[in-house]
Amino acid sequence: METSVQENNISMPRIGDAAPEFEAVTTQGNINFPSDYKGNWVILFSHPADFTPVCTSEFITFASMEEKFAKVNTKLVGLSIDGLYSHIAWLRTIKEKIEYKGMKDVEVKFPLIEDIKMDVAQKYGMIQPNEDSTKAVRAVFFIDPKGVIRSMIYYPLSLGRNFEELYRVVVALQTSDEFGVATPADWQPGDDVIVSPAGSCGTAQERMESDEMNCQDWFFCTKKLDKQTVLDKIIN
Ligand code: BEZ
Repeated sequence: METSVQENNISMPRIGDAAPEFEAVTTQGNINFPSDYKGNWVILFSHPADFTPVCTSEFITFASMEEKFAKVNTKLVGLSIDGLYSHIAWLRTIKEKIEYKGMKDVEVKFPLIEDIKMDVAQKYGMIQPNEDSTKAVRAVFFIDPKGVIRSMIYYPLSLGRNFEELYRVVVALQTSDEFGVATPADWQPGDDVIVSPAGSCGTAQERMESDEMNCQDWFFCTKKLDKQTVLDKIIN
């Protein structure tokens, strides 16, 4: 059993790292990543294989939400260890034949990378050999407009992703950047946000006396952040 990242020489990007660069062939033409996406948020995600049911349900769901992601300045880029013609055939089949939860006739307009040699998948740690040595796991990388990895989520082969959660992550990351706050468990726009921890005893005391914040203790302060204020700032 393979146990360590170093033993296998697998590269695993980390939060805060620059997104590893690559050139790739996709269903929408060639891309240079991440430079082609500068100024946009990107969700780079992998799926195990074309013509598989969980992946198909995911692609229909993600493609149906493409406009919603575009409105928060976020582009989608998919990848699997399959060739270009397999990708094209699968996306055509999805559009022509497959219905999922009432979504049908869905055109996948975002690029799907061919990565038959696993070059990109290896760079991004998408191949996790104890899960499968030839198929990518369901990895999701959230990359900011400067090309920095801001969050990562990995799911196993058998588990389809929750795409509303992926949207929530994008909105929360952008809210954090725009308003200098953190977002608590299960946060949604309109919920109170977390004020960053006090860095001095004086600030801690001020926080406890502030009318603008709700401090249960000096380290746990929240404040209101109106839903419309969030949406006005991040929705194009
Ligand atoms: C699927 O997408 O259905 C799938 C792919 C690989 C392994 C298991 C399920």
